[in-house]
Amino acid sequence: MILVTKPSLPPKEKYEQYLAGIWDRQYLTNNGPLLRLLEQRLQDYLQVDGINIVSNGTTALQLAIRALDLKGEIITTPFSFVATTSSIVWQGCRPVFADIKPETLNIDPEKIEEFITPHTTAILATHVYGNPCDVEAIADLANRHGLKVIYDAAHAFGTLFKGESIYRWGDISITSFHATKLFHTIEGGALFASDRELTSRIQRMRNFGHNGTGGFDGVGINGKNSEFHAAMGLCNLDSFDNLLETRKRQHLFYYNQLNDLNLRFPETLDEVDWNRAYFPVIFDSENRCLQVKKGLERFQIQTRRYFYPSLNRLDYVDRQKAEISCNLAPRILCLPLYDELTLKDQMMITGIIRKILEKRPSQLPKQRSSAAGSISSCGLRVHVQSNGSLTN
Ligand SMILES: Cc1ncc(COP(=O)(O)O)c(C=O)c1O
Repeated sequence: MILVTKPSLPPKEKYEQYLAGIWDRQYLTNNGPLLRLLEQRLQDYLQVDGINIVSNGTTALQLAIRALDLKGEIITTPFSFVATTSSIVWQGCRPVFADIKPETLNIDPEKIEEFITPHTTAILATHVYGNPCDVEAIADLANRHGLKVIYDAAHAFGTLFKGESIYRWGDISITSFHATKLFHTIEGGALFASDRELTSRIQRMRNFGHNGTGGFDGVGINGKNSEFHAAMGLCNLDSFDNLLETRKRQHLFYYNQLNDLNLRFPETLDEVDWNRAYFPVIFDSENRCLQVKKGLERFQIQTRRYFYPSLNRLDYVDRQKAEISCNLAPRILCLPLYDELTLKDQMMITGIIRKILEKRPSQLPKQRSSAAGSISSCGLRVHVQSNGSLTN
């Protein structure tokens, strides 16, 4: 079975070394030494100010909205993970959807402007797949209209814009350190804010509102993360540069094998160096998308419709239009992508896709009747040529 994603794990012995320290200190959570070390190392690595690690990316979104004291309407993207919208609703605000640009799949700044009303307090935009939004246009808009900006940068660890971390943009950028993310702490997330007072407020809010002197300063929640999670992050950070390099190679391979077919891939803005967190493919129709998905499933290759459905279709938001997002969401598929994915796996995946799209399904190997084992261990003879083509 080839999964759509797999978490990267450090050598077990390396993690165990951190565990030994945790056992010695018996300090398991509550802003412990490993968590503080990870915050420091992330600040140095990413060259950002004002970091607060929290329990996950969703909590980070909710804290961001709360810390900025947002009310009323928040203009957001319909093409993102459900947590982007649900966090707005959870915080008692109304999500207003501005459609996306078909080229980048990110929120369209021109559409944002159309939806600004006296009730608008902020923009919450996602760097979809780790590919940055037009942050300059959004900053300009926000300044002109006195709006706050939050970036859902859950996918964007390692992405640079003009040579600097994309986390530097917005009043607050949040990220997710979930196990499926490029950099992870098993579960986890973080908020980045360059404003010191805002960073301190978030720090209090993630810890019940404790002000550090025994009292409370405002309402808070439990958004803390543990020493065990921090230890995983410290291990993973050491290998992140290598992982990023592999990812770029894998991405390029997919692209080279597929770019002559009738497919589209998200475009990036100038001066962007993005992390290639995902490999999304845009098909010309939903039918074709599902045909490829099912065709790959016959070979036990998993893909993911991500993001689907368009968030303006959620039953807990007011009915709103977002034609581009509604049109694109049903015909996008993310292909398997993770550190251990081999060139051979990629050749097989792209070979099968080519056969399906070139309408030569009869040349595909016969469908297997049982779902047991991996492709190479269940007797299926799929020969992948060096050019990625497939024969039985
Ligand atoms: C764009 C986006 N925002 C927010 C989240 C939520 O992050 P978490 O799973 O850490 O709560 C995710 C998770 O996949 C995501 O993809």
